[in-house]
Amino acid sequence: MYCPILLPEKGMDIMKGTIEYIKSKTGNFNPEIAIILGSGLGELADEYCDIKLAYKDIPNFPVSTVKGHSGNLVFAEIGGKKVMMMQGRFHYYEGHSMSTVTYPVKVMKKLGVKTVIITNAAGGVNPYFKPSSLMIIKDHINFMGTNPLIGPNDDNLGDRFPDMSEVYTKSLRETARNCASRLNIPVEEGVYIALTGPAYETPAEVNMVRTLGADAVGMSTVPEAITACYLKMNVLGISCICNSAAGISTVGLSHKEVLEAADKAKTGFKKLVLEIIKEG
Ligand code: HPA
Repeated sequence: MYCPILLPEKGMDIMKGTIEYIKSKTGNFNPEIAIILGSGLGELADEYCDIKLAYKDIPNFPVSTVKGHSGNLVFAEIGGKKVMMMQGRFHYYEGHSMSTVTYPVKVMKKLGVKTVIITNAAGGVNPYFKPSSLMIIKDHINFMGTNPLIGPNDDNLGDRFPDMSEVYTKSLRETARNCASRLNIPVEEGVYIALTGPAYETPAEVNMVRTLGADAVGMSTVPEAITACYLKMNVLGISCICNSAAGISTVGLSHKEVLEAADKAKTGFKKLVLEIIKEG
C-alpha cells in the first residue's frame, strides 16, 4: 500500500476510507492517547479491549508480517482516558515505504489523538543496561538513511523543515520517570538509534553507534516519532532493552531471545504504561 505523502490529493482519498471505516465502528470514541505496542508487548491490548479492528479489515491499512506482532487497532477506556492501541506496527525492513510505516500516526492525528506513546524492543548498547530493563527515550538518532517527511509538504499539517529539538516531550518523560519511581520499576533514560534492519548489527556497528552517542539500538520508532513531532503531537518513547547488542554480549542474537526478554519485562512495562496513562 502506497500513500504518497500525508494528505494531499490521492493521500486524502486513501485516508478518507480508513477514517470513515474506523469511525463507523467506534462511533464517538474519540481517542486522546495512542500507544504503538512493540515486539512482544502487545498484551496490553488483549487485557484492555472495548473495540478491536483487524488491520486487514480496515480500508487502506497496511498489514504486519512479523512474528510477535499481531495486527489490530484496539480501542479501550483506561483509567478514564480514551486510548487507541496498535497491536503490531509496520517496519521499513518489511519492505513498506516510509509513508506506509507512518500512515497509522497520520490516522491517529486525524482521529484527534494528542499524545502518542511509542514502544519497542531494542538492543542495549550502553554496557550498563541490563536485559529486560526499560529505557525512556530522551532523544533519537535517525540512522535509517531516509526520512518519513521526504516528498511534497502539506503546510496545513506541518512545517517543511520541522523542529526536532524536543521530539520526546519533556513533561511526559518526567511523568514517566515519576510513575516508574512510584511503582518501584527501574528505568533508564537514553538515546535510541534506529537502523533499518532486518539483520541485527555487527559488533563493529554496535561500537559505531555507541561512539555516536546511542544507548539502545532498534529498527523502528524513529519514523513514527518524527511524523508525530511534525504533526505537533506529544510523544513518549519507551524501549524494552531485550538483549545486550552484538559484541556487548558474548552470545549471538535471536528474535526468540528478544521475545523472551520482552516477555520478562512486560509486567513492569504494562504497569508503567497504565500509570502514565492515568497520570497523563
Ligand atoms: N538490535 C536491533 N534491534 C533489536 C535488538 C538489537 O540488538 N534487540 C531487539 N531489537
